[in-house]
Amino acid sequence: MPGFPEVRLRRLRQSPALRRMARETRLATDQLILPFFVCPGSGVESPIAALPGVCHHSVDRLVEAARHARADGVGAVLLFGLPESKDATGSSAWSDDGIVQRALRALGAELPGLVKIVDVCFCEYTDHGHCGVLRGERVDNDATLENLARQAVSLAAAGADVIAPSDMMDGRVGAIRRALDQAGHAETPILSYAVKFASAFYGPFREAAGSAPAFGDRRGYQMDPANGREALREAALDVEEGADILMVKPALPYLDVLAALRRRCNLPLAAYHVSGEYAMLRAAADRGMLDYERALMESLLAIRRAGADLIVTYGARDAARLLAAGWSE
Ligand code: PBG
Repeated sequence: MPGFPEVRLRRLRQSPALRRMARETRLATDQLILPFFVCPGSGVESPIAALPGVCHHSVDRLVEAARHARADGVGAVLLFGLPESKDATGSSAWSDDGIVQRALRALGAELPGLVKIVDVCFCEYTDHGHCGVLRGERVDNDATLENLARQAVSLAAAGADVIAPSDMMDGRVGAIRRALDQAGHAETPILSYAVKFASAFYGPFREAAGSAPAFGDRRGYQMDPANGREALREAALDVEEGADILMVKPALPYLDVLAALRRRCNLPLAAYHVSGEYAMLRAAADRGMLDYERALMESLLAIRRAGADLIVTYGARDAARLLAAGWSE
């Protein structure tokens, strides 16, 4: 094996053109997914304090914001709903007139080519803020499965292109797959939040979505951040149950899990660069501590390099704009 001085790795770093030629990983705008928070009313576009640059949108404004995002090259949107009312089971989540169902119909009518992904979960819809039906202080897994299936079918009927369950109940991918197939939605894919950790990085999202649990936490259903092997078991079960795409969430603190999954699994992989990951960049940039654009692009590139095909990020539109303008470090 030759070494220095015959080998000089700096040779290929001399110029922008050589660096671009030797570059192993690239970002593409059509693999970026932008989350939206849809709220009741009309004409609403109100900034979310915990997430700089992100707003609550009523359906009419959502359509306009999604139109701009798409014009900038963003491939897909991920929808979260803030319902008019909440109850113990989260029943507004499967109402055909629910907030996300209405958003789907409007987006479908106005922006037919846009990929509409929907989050399937109950924490935004229950009055206690947990991700399913309670029995005592625990979430009842199997009772929640029935409701998840209902929610998924209702969203597919309203025009969702991809169903993305994030609740972390056991068996939910299979339950949703069977319900979709029986209801005539055999062609609707499932993007499973297969590996979702009980993370402190969801903090800003819970303020944005009004979904903080009223008591306790989510450690009884979301994964222990210490567990890498268990993540592979979660992923394997979702593959068996019929998931079409697997997601790891959060992204940057779990790149090892993403890389391990990439080696073992041939499904497309997604990663969720979550609210806290994004908010950290914005907060540090606001204080002059780092350059938001460069830090965002480096983060997204790292997530791709570790093995993600798709990336959900609140910075999707910023990144798409930078890429369209020829971004290259
Ligand atoms: C649950 C859900 C959460 C996020 C996406 N789906 C929050 C949670 O599990 O508490 C977090 C996303 C983010 O932090 O950006 N429906």
